[in-house]
Amino acid sequence: MPSISWDPSMTTGVESLDNQHKQLIAWLNDLLSAMSAGRGRTEISSLLDKLGGYAVMHFGNEEDCMAKYNCPVAAKNAAAHKDFVATFAAFREEFDKTGATAHLVVRLQAELMRWLTSHIKATDTQLAPCVRATPHR
Ligand SMILES: [Fe+2]
Ligand SMILES: [Fe+2]
Repeated sequence: MPSISWDPSMTTGVESLDNQHKQLIAWLNDLLSAMSAGRGRTEISSLLDKLGGYAVMHFGNEEDCMAKYNCPVAAKNAAAHKDFVATFAAFREEFDKTGATAHLVVRLQAELMRWLTSHIKATDTQLAPCVRATPHR
C-alpha cells in the first residue's frame, strides 16, 4: 500500500490546520496499512474511532477559520465535509459487518485518501489567499 504524505501544495496558510492535515493523512495511512496487514478488528476499530473523531474536530476548526476569513469557498467546504463524514460512516458500518475485506481497503484508499488529498489541494488551500488578505490577524 503506497503511503501518502503531506506536501507544500497542501498549505492552507494556517499552521494549526496544516498540522491537523498531516495528522489526518498519517492516521489514514496507518489505517490502510493496518487493514492491508490483516490486523485485528479491535485495533482497526480504534483507528477508525480516532480518525473519525479527529476528522470531525478538524472540519469544525477549518469551517470556523473559513468563516473568520470570509473565504469564498466556505459553504462548498462545509458541504464537502458533510459528504466525507457520511462516506466515512458508511465505511465504518461496512467494516463492522464484514471486516477489512480487500474490496473495502481498495475503496477506502480510493474514496477517503484520494478524496482527502484532492479536497485539501482544491478547497482547503483557498484559505491561504484569504488569510494573506486579512490585516491584523
Ligand atoms: Fe476542508
Ligand atoms: Fe481540511
